[in-house]
Amino acid sequence: MTLILKLDPLRPEREKIERAAEFIRAGEVVAFPTETVYGLGANALSPSSVRKIFAVKRRPLDNPLIIHVARAEQVEALVEEIPPAADRLIQSFWPGPLTLILRKLPSVPEEATAGLETLAVRMPDHRVALELIEVSSTPIAAPSANLSGRPSSTRAEHVIEDFYSRIACIIDSGQCRIGVESTVAMVRGDKIVILRPGGISREEMERATGKPVEYHRLVIEAGGEEKPVSPGMKYRHYAPRAELWLVPGEKLVQVVKEALERSGRVGVIARREKDIPGALLYKAGTGIEEYSSNLFSALRSLDSKRMEIIVAEAVEEVGMGMAAMNRLKKAATRIIG
Ligand code: TXA
Ligand code: MG
Repeated sequence: MTLILKLDPLRPEREKIERAAEFIRAGEVVAFPTETVYGLGANALSPSSVRKIFAVKRRPLDNPLIIHVARAEQVEALVEEIPPAADRLIQSFWPGPLTLILRKLPSVPEEATAGLETLAVRMPDHRVALELIEVSSTPIAAPSANLSGRPSSTRAEHVIEDFYSRIACIIDSGQCRIGVESTVAMVRGDKIVILRPGGISREEMERATGKPVEYHRLVIEAGGEEKPVSPGMKYRHYAPRAELWLVPGEKLVQVVKEALERSGRVGVIARREKDIPGALLYKAGTGIEEYSSNLFSALRSLDSKRMEIIVAEAVEEVGMGMAAMNRLKKAATRIIG
């Protein structure tokens, strides 16, 4: 049985938060909304609770989770130190879609960090998430609430599709505002390195810190040979069941026609209206932010309509476009330049 709790995203009902928090305290898994995507949460300080997340998500055990906190002081109980540049980022962007990689204290169970000496931590910008963490009286470890490899969940229906009857509780607070996951960043001396582009852009981080912010090499080159710094980098991710072709806007119509010669079930994710007879169009939005925030929904929706090929329109790799293109490249079976 899974309890589904509908909660007001802006003014969460206290009794319902209490019920969800009871599950967390009892060591169960609770799916909850954040401003980025839904998370699959459990008590971060309980090894057996964290193991449940890996089992239900079918996540490889070497891919660590993000620990969510409700107050910046909670981080002090988890990490060795907060370097000045990290503190600057916390001041500028928390609560918000920025995850920091810091050296962990031995008291944090290795289950959550997959045995690494570092941990990932963030404070989500969502009332429901913050109150759940606060009332549970523990930091909450949570990956995105999707079965491993599938597109992330930006609505409770997506979570229900993947996890109904497999976890104790699903909180439904509607659609997530940002729709792509947090930026994962590591502070190295004077440099800030982005391991996963996300809801906070490189440009915003440079402006706030006055320091250079770089993308990790593996963010730029798809599929490096070395052991990835961020274990999540090596897996195929965010993928619909359909083939996914990524194409620049000017070639979209031509490539969709090519796809239609191969299959009668072609879906298209485009920024604006297109007249392509025979294909199913999902208009994700003209603006890059709007497009990014609808992307996972688009992939899941076309999948549920059993498309065989999905052709997605590429966006410019600036701001949130960097995050959207990172997800699309990881999910793509074919990239057309
Ligand atoms: O927006 C988000 O970040 C969402 C919401 C629920 O907070 N969570 C999320 O979690 O996207 P997940 O598990 O799907 O992605 C976490 C990423 C993975 O790529 C993982 O490898 C990386 O963070 N990561 C976690 N701990 C790390 C560490 N110690 N060092 C480097 N990368 C780490
Ligand atoms: Mg994920």
